[in-house]
Amino acid sequence: MTKNKKLLKWVDEIAKLCKPDKIHWCDGSQEENDALIKICVENGSFVPIPKRENSYWVVSDPKDVARVEDRTFICSRNKDDAGPTNNWMDPDEMKKIMLGLYDGCMRGRTMYIIPYSMGPLGSRISYIGVEITDSIYVVVNMRIMTRMGKAVLDVLGEDGDFVPCLHSVGYPLVDGKKDVHWPCNEVKYITHFPEERAIWSFGSGYGGNALLGKKCFSLRIASVMAHDEGWLAEHMLIVGVTPPNGEKKYIAAAFPSACGKTNLAMMKPSLPGWKVETVGDDIAWMKFGPDGRLYAINPEYGFFGVAPGTSMESNENAMLTMTKNSIFTNVAFTDDGDVWWEGMTKQKPAHLLDWNKNDWTPDCGRNAAHPNARFTTPASQCPVIDPDWENPNGVPISAFLFGGRRSSVVPLVYEAYDWNHGVFMGSAAASETTAAAAGAVGKLRHDPFAMLPFCGYNMADYFAHWIQIGRMTFPNKLPKIFYVNWFRKDENGRFIWPGYGDNIRVIKWILERIDEKGDYVETPIGILPAKGAIDISGLRISNENLDKILSINKEEWFKEVQEMREYYKIFGNRLPNQLVEELNKIEERLKK
Ligand code: OXD
Ligand code: MN
Repeated sequence: MTKNKKLLKWVDEIAKLCKPDKIHWCDGSQEENDALIKICVENGSFVPIPKRENSYWVVSDPKDVARVEDRTFICSRNKDDAGPTNNWMDPDEMKKIMLGLYDGCMRGRTMYIIPYSMGPLGSRISYIGVEITDSIYVVVNMRIMTRMGKAVLDVLGEDGDFVPCLHSVGYPLVDGKKDVHWPCNEVKYITHFPEERAIWSFGSGYGGNALLGKKCFSLRIASVMAHDEGWLAEHMLIVGVTPPNGEKKYIAAAFPSACGKTNLAMMKPSLPGWKVETVGDDIAWMKFGPDGRLYAINPEYGFFGVAPGTSMESNENAMLTMTKNSIFTNVAFTDDGDVWWEGMTKQKPAHLLDWNKNDWTPDCGRNAAHPNARFTTPASQCPVIDPDWENPNGVPISAFLFGGRRSSVVPLVYEAYDWNHGVFMGSAAASETTAAAAGAVGKLRHDPFAMLPFCGYNMADYFAHWIQIGRMTFPNKLPKIFYVNWFRKDENGRFIWPGYGDNIRVIKWILERIDEKGDYVETPIGILPAKGAIDISGLRISNENLDKILSINKEEWFKEVQEMREYYKIFGNRLPNQLVEELNKIEERLKK
């Protein structure tokens, strides 16, 4: 237990509100975890996976399968502080609604208190959160995804501060109501109070809706803290890349959900002599070090990755990470006691239990796994985890990559002329939507910095913050900025670039550019690799196709510029002038 006054007071308040039968303070021990899992195995909500040690198969309610962006709110006091890209409600009004929902919502259940640290315990870049939840699934996932338990309370001490995160599945066991395998509520709210630095979530048990350390704290609340305190909280993977000459560099890359961050973070490079090591696959927190460079930590402790499409070919290191101590949600179950999902093996199994526990055969016309099925697995088990992944000082970042899924227009890679141009490129990121969020798949949407669903304040102020970061150090200390697009398609709808391990060829050029080497050409939209500058040794790609993804079509880019101008209008006069200037410069260069 703790002597922390703020925590004791808050727990007392929430217990009175939610009225659980029992209260359990999580110590994070193996015994505690075993006991919780035993409850879930006995009630049938967790199924042990015989082929994977200490691993479990869980299926959700079919109506609770992804982040619910339309139910996610930023409740700042002023509507304008949430900005045009967030849902907003007045904090008092929201609290009134949610206090009604929370009243008695844990009846018949145990309330778990999870103290957790985002980032290595005690690091100057780390912060502490405490999640209160009535879901054992959340507790055991949080144990994989964060450093949680008694050690965190020790660091918190009597007066330490933390971000309070309240979560309930919203399924009280009253009036003889029996529990179900995945309790949740039709009514869902994922709510953030940025001025108070507090998170209230109700009604969903899935992923970022419920594991509140991830999107809610590490991105939405942390982005506000980062803005106020002069650092960065970003939706970025962090990876260490060592070329054959041994000069290792770290890069951070922001791609939207389900666009390959985990694959890039754990890539098996196809070029001989190259090594890639993983620091993080989803979130980066970065502060300036004494040398004026940006240093990044991965605040998380595990990976919550998209399962479909993951295979020994596409991501061997992820596959080897999840061989034990892992939780698989909404995947399928094989007759010989393993998990399976679309893309895991070329040959589909003859029979499975699908993610709804129904019989499945290859010809049944349904997916066996949900497209947003996930694995939760400890980062420490990754065979290529970086030796510095828990370094409390973080790792120095040499380049930022932005990107998304664009089947046309956007070339394979280009470099910003300078910092503000790079900020413009981040603001202009757009991507075809995926199953990571509820809603249509494959629709092009603006996703600035891959932060559209995760920025906890006005996106225009976030752009201004990025410009400000560029003024906080010497230009030569700042990471260089690049835009990449692995997803160009030909006229038959086939991907042109092989991707995965071959992306090292693009990273090679990026590393050369960081050292002011690497042949290049200046174009209206930025710096592109010169002909022959991308190492394609051993790769089968036609010159015509390579030219196509390494050049720009002026007409298409004129349209992009107009479209961007239109998009910027939603930010009104809060949009930093510097971004309009960058847009003007591109247009001028296109006219030449
Ligand atoms: C995630 C997401 O779960 O971005 O990382 O949806
Ligand atoms: Mn993500």
